[in-house]
Amino acid sequence: MASAKLGVGVIGCGTVGGGVVKLLVAEQAQLRRKTGVTVELRKAVDTDAAKRSATGLPPALLAEDANAVLADPEIGVVVEVIGGVNPARSLVEGALAAGKHVVTANKELVAKHGPELLALARKHGVTLHFEASSCGGIPVIHALGQSLAANRFETLLGIVNGTTNFILTKMHREGAEFAEVLAEAQRLGYAEADPTADVDGHDAAYKLAILAAMAFDSHFDYRDIHTEGIRNISARDIAIAKDYGYVVKLLAIGAAHADGRVELRVHPVLVPEEHPLAAVSDAFNAVFARGNYVGDVMLYGRGAGQLPTASAIVGDIIDLAMHQAQGGTSPRMNFGTQAKAVVPMGEVRTQYYLRLDVKDRPGVLAAIARIFGDCGVSISAVKQAAATTESVELVIFTHEVGEAAFQKAVAGIGKLDVVVGVRAIIRAHV
Ligand code: HSE
Repeated sequence: MASAKLGVGVIGCGTVGGGVVKLLVAEQAQLRRKTGVTVELRKAVDTDAAKRSATGLPPALLAEDANAVLADPEIGVVVEVIGGVNPARSLVEGALAAGKHVVTANKELVAKHGPELLALARKHGVTLHFEASSCGGIPVIHALGQSLAANRFETLLGIVNGTTNFILTKMHREGAEFAEVLAEAQRLGYAEADPTADVDGHDAAYKLAILAAMAFDSHFDYRDIHTEGIRNISARDIAIAKDYGYVVKLLAIGAAHADGRVELRVHPVLVPEEHPLAAVSDAFNAVFARGNYVGDVMLYGRGAGQLPTASAIVGDIIDLAMHQAQGGTSPRMNFGTQAKAVVPMGEVRTQYYLRLDVKDRPGVLAAIARIFGDCGVSISAVKQAAATTESVELVIFTHEVGEAAFQKAVAGIGKLDVVVGVRAIIRAHV
């Protein structure tokens, strides 16, 4: 006979933990009605007294030490929302070893240690759920890993970082430079005081590692993901992109190759205005995937924030409660069942946008075109603009070509004495 109660312990009373507490308290009746189980919040833990008291919970439900959760036999689910690897990893391991299900929002932990943690969960007959670890409130993990799992995915394109999408959207709308928009975003609390993880693409790379495991059925080391951020995107490039009908987005890209390998990369991309991802603005996230049966599918919503993230976490708890009501455990998410290699960046083929300042004299275009030709790079468009007395700006778009060939050509072009400077390289969506 299935138990009609599911005790929950929340480790971490920060923004997301506070949201989980709010939802569990406010929606207990709804959860009981929908699952047939009383989901009971038994303990919320944080080392910071101010954060504990901000939950508004009575002192009897609060604790400073995570052992209050791990040692409580009435707690069947541990929610880990402290983030980072330490001490989150040992707490999650402790909870799984104690026979408790774990629900986590921790993308770094899942990206770095997902396979070991899932193996540990299997060993102890419990489940590790991590819907909130990627794209906050958007149920993309269950969608890719379960609802759409009949498919083989050809491509996965994601706007998975809200901070950078907010910054790029503002730059696009206002013509402002990266540094000023970042400073404003920090003032408004949209960007962290230390924005590195977001603006340099690391947050997106962790999320891509998790999404790719779901979509391409293999565990990928996040360190194999070629990662570039948005610090070098200038107002000038965004304005030129706009003129050509493109929007600059930081994309997380996965693409299956016919030989079984998978392309994984995070970098700015010129996305055609008519592509559905071009319309994903502000801090919103979206994942666009192409499956062999479902065709094109796109999931859109809030990828961060207290209540959207708590919504995904409580969704995982509901999953556990529903299965408990049926006398079983939740389906175990796989973090990939096949070994697949990541395609080296040099082999990736795409189109490129290149902006250069060159001297305005005869033979310059010919010299550049010769190097491109020698490297097998085909030019699709050239525009000469904005001349100063010193130099003239040259914008070149290429046809699809391998990254190694393109970079070799640009290195050669950069050495020409008529080239004042290579100002920008942005890959274009193909
Ligand atoms: N900092 C992330 C973002 C949210 O800006 O999307 C948490 O992953």
